[in-house]
Amino acid sequence: MCGIIGYIGHRPATPLLLDGLRRLEYRGYDSSGIALMNGDGIKVMKRKGRLAELEALLSEDGQKLESTVGIGHTRWATHGVPNDINAHPHFAMGEDLVLIHNGIIENFSELKEYLVGSGYSFQSDTDTEVLANLILEFYEGDLLAAVTRALLRVEGTYGIVVMHKNHPRSMVVARKGSPLVVGVGKDEIFVASDLAAMVEHTRDVIFLDDNEIGIVEDGEFNHFNLDHSPIKRKTTHIDFSLEQIEKGGYSHFMYKEIMEQPQTLMDTMRGRILDDGSIKLGGLIQHMDELAKAERILFLACGTSYHAGLVGEYLIEELAGIPVEVEYASEFRYRKPVIPPNTVAFAISQSGETLDTLEALREAQSRGALALAVVNSVGSTIARESVGGVYLHAGPEIGVASTKAFTSQVTVLVLIALLLRQQRMGLDEMSVEITQAMRQLPEKATRILEDQSQILDIAKMFCRASNFLYLGRGTQYPVALEGALKLKEISYIHAEGYPAAEMKHGPIALIDRNMPVFVLAAENSTSNRKILSNTQEVRARDGVVIALVTEGDTRMDDLANHTLYIPTTHRLLVPLLAVLPLQLLSYHVADLLGLDMDKPRNLAKSVTVE
Ligand code: G6P
Repeated sequence: MCGIIGYIGHRPATPLLLDGLRRLEYRGYDSSGIALMNGDGIKVMKRKGRLAELEALLSEDGQKLESTVGIGHTRWATHGVPNDINAHPHFAMGEDLVLIHNGIIENFSELKEYLVGSGYSFQSDTDTEVLANLILEFYEGDLLAAVTRALLRVEGTYGIVVMHKNHPRSMVVARKGSPLVVGVGKDEIFVASDLAAMVEHTRDVIFLDDNEIGIVEDGEFNHFNLDHSPIKRKTTHIDFSLEQIEKGGYSHFMYKEIMEQPQTLMDTMRGRILDDGSIKLGGLIQHMDELAKAERILFLACGTSYHAGLVGEYLIEELAGIPVEVEYASEFRYRKPVIPPNTVAFAISQSGETLDTLEALREAQSRGALALAVVNSVGSTIARESVGGVYLHAGPEIGVASTKAFTSQVTVLVLIALLLRQQRMGLDEMSVEITQAMRQLPEKATRILEDQSQILDIAKMFCRASNFLYLGRGTQYPVALEGALKLKEISYIHAEGYPAAEMKHGPIALIDRNMPVFVLAAENSTSNRKILSNTQEVRARDGVVIALVTEGDTRMDDLANHTLYIPTTHRLLVPLLAVLPLQLLSYHVADLLGLDMDKPRNLAKSVTVE
């Protein structure tokens, strides 16, 4: 997804902008560019492809670029193909004003028509160039006023930074729906769409909210509502270190994040399970009455977060007896959802910026639901817009394929399910049993991650397969979905997750000797015993079975072609361990295929478009 960085200070801007852009690469992008205040004009350099292309252009250009004011952007195409012309920054006609933009201007064609009628011409296919010209149209010497007037005409989402050559040491910033944060350093100011881009230089930041606009000048930031009434917001001190967002000695962020899970599981649980087994979630304390009255829970999410929500459905229905619905955020927001009284909606999002999830939460709230969130990214839009919630405390997740966020999300959902249970039936034996088992999870996760030899062997055997099927029942069905998603995301092998019994209603037709089938059978409950017959059905058609079972379970010995083991745990906690071998398998397959799993093709880490 697009990334923004801007700088005004006393140091040369170019290396700072390039560094910032490098830190934003993980968000996914297909072109990049920078604009610098340069003497009495503005110089723009931009290129399709990776940052290396932009760096090559800068060195080809050969000019000494010593400007101390500039902006940079990584673009993930929405309007117009990824190419040099559509890359940001975009000049307005005449090249006096330049703009970088995250988000989408929905009414850009009407605005473009109006501007063409007023004599403007356009170089690119982008909505951003339309906004740049609209600002120019309103410019009469006051940049802040011009940007405000333009934004009042705009429908859609934006995080923008604007520079004009007449104001060589200032830039105007604004946001609606796309994050923007201002970092205050010593005699220098940064703006960025993401803390990672500036955290090396300053940790004192001001988050902009929707419909806010600001002007950055030397050492100063003033910010306003769109009616120009001033906003006084104190700086927030951020205390995650740069090291936390670097690879920490691992070859890839994804691998680092997989390996971090014993720690992140501990971090997610820390302070939330009291000695007697009761649950305390600080971000929900203000809403305990509403939670006690909750008659329906709604989970709104996308991607991996949606799969965590599906696990949460099993957990809450069984532990607290409250009906749960899990919805793809993008679908929920465009139907006419019926929200009965006493509905509690949770947005689940690693980034806290997924636009569909944010809009779905707004929709649920506008229809009367209590709007809560399970979010990793502190200070993110969803975190700020929800009335309460639970942070994952999993640290920044950089790998595009979500791993540690999933296990932390499921952990939080176990905690929420237990909290709801304890509100309804007190602290019973089952609650205590589960919390005891939770305390052992980090050590059990370590055991799985320590010895990867068997998983690596399986990855070697199957990395050339064209299709994979993942089957599970109960809480392991969403894990099957997640395993399939991980594999397709980073290795580009087609994979499907299915409820094991549902296989015979379609996917069974695909099974032959070339079809590896991953069977998740990691517990021995009555319902899960039926997975043995589902496995027989695969074997009878020559399918190759890789089974995942708990240590000491011999049921698959004669059935599966290959068997992986995970430690035993409480039945309801199995997803937290079962997903680990699946993450590792995907990682090793992608690695063997020589693919860059941190930046898989076509995918973005944070999807801030619909
Ligand atoms: C993108 C990412 C996925 C993620 C999904 C939801 O598709 O590539 O890894 O699961 O967005 O993101 P969120 O930040 O809301 O959890």
